[in-house]
Amino acid sequence: MTTRTFHIAAIPADGVGTEVLEAGRTLLDALAADSGGEFAFEWTDYPWGTDYYHRTGQMMPDDGLDQLRDVDAIYFGAVGAPEVPDHVTLWGLRLAICQGFDQWANVRPVTFHPGVTSPLRTIDDTSLDWVVVRENSEGEYSGLGGRNLAGRGPGNEVAVQSSLFTETGCERIVRFAFDLARTRQRKVVTSVTKSNAQQHGMVLWDDVFARVAADYPDVEANSCLVDAMAARFVLHPEDLSVVVASNLHADVLSDLGSALAGSLGLATSANLNPERRTPSMFEPVHGSAPDIAGKGIANPIGAIGSAGLMLSHFGLHDAATRVRDAIDATTAAGVLPADLGGDATSKQITEAVLDHLETAR
Ligand code: NAI
Ligand code: MG
Repeated sequence: MTTRTFHIAAIPADGVGTEVLEAGRTLLDALAADSGGEFAFEWTDYPWGTDYYHRTGQMMPDDGLDQLRDVDAIYFGAVGAPEVPDHVTLWGLRLAICQGFDQWANVRPVTFHPGVTSPLRTIDDTSLDWVVVRENSEGEYSGLGGRNLAGRGPGNEVAVQSSLFTETGCERIVRFAFDLARTRQRKVVTSVTKSNAQQHGMVLWDDVFARVAADYPDVEANSCLVDAMAARFVLHPEDLSVVVASNLHADVLSDLGSALAGSLGLATSANLNPERRTPSMFEPVHGSAPDIAGKGIANPIGAIGSAGLMLSHFGLHDAATRVRDAIDATTAAGVLPADLGGDATSKQITEAVLDHLETAR
């Protein structure tokens, strides 16, 4: 058998990002070693992030994207440190990669794991199983606007932060959501909108959603205002399957979803360039968690699960299923980190997931 070798760029960046990526990497290497020569991973480490910024004044070098362009995928930790403004760190690295590589679809599954107690105690792991599909290239995070455009000066400053909605941008993410729904047991797409208040961009979003929905008569389509959607996440999680939303709305709702599943530390994410013209990026949803960084207690499940999404992207579906099952077997056995009410360290959880990979063979 010829071994398929996947070249992965690891960018752990800041805080717990470095701790949880280590966990996911250990798992991927174990799977490769166990694949009987089917696949292998070749890693390149990029020491970019806030330390790099302190040394060089930049979050990554000018040719950063060129250095990454030819890899099969990017495995990303988290950026952010208390002493540097968040817009500097986020725009300097993570958003620069997402937007530079046109990773226009951000896929964020929300699932229950057995043995994890959610605030929704009456719901079980069969009734909460969604994917939040986030528009990842424009909308509220298009960077359009400026400060003090009217030159009014201190005390009278004015800032404009505009949202950009293009018909092409809306259509490709909505189609992506419908295509994804077709692969799922419950074929439902819910669009998140705010067209009652935002009469330009969100009305275009609604129009495109209605037009695309007509092409998918086999998929149920409905639309919900973002504020009502927040309540629906909590009150009727069983209604939802694929949720498609703009950049900002999906950012907020997916954190809510992962908190409902138990903790932000569980949440996984794929930033995809579906055309595969540029590398896609896989990362836990959480940030650098400076409050717990360096203590060895960060929940590595979000990062490990994101490595599972990377395996699916490579077409390694059996390996991806093994990762999901090993995570579930770990939580079901009560091996839980502090954010889920347990006392297992990051290392103990990683080892438990590795053990379950063995038994799941
Ligand atoms: P955060 O996600 O870092 O932390 C929020 C809360 O969740 C904290 O109480 C933290 O301890 C907890 N938490 C997060 N990940 C955890 C894990 N793996 N295990 C256990 N508990 C975990 O969000 P916060 O505090 O708003 O931001 C901290 C920094 O991270 C900021 O600089 C922010 O800009 C950055 N950030 C970066 C992101 C990224 O790189 N994708 C995403 C979100 C925030
Ligand atoms: Mg977020």
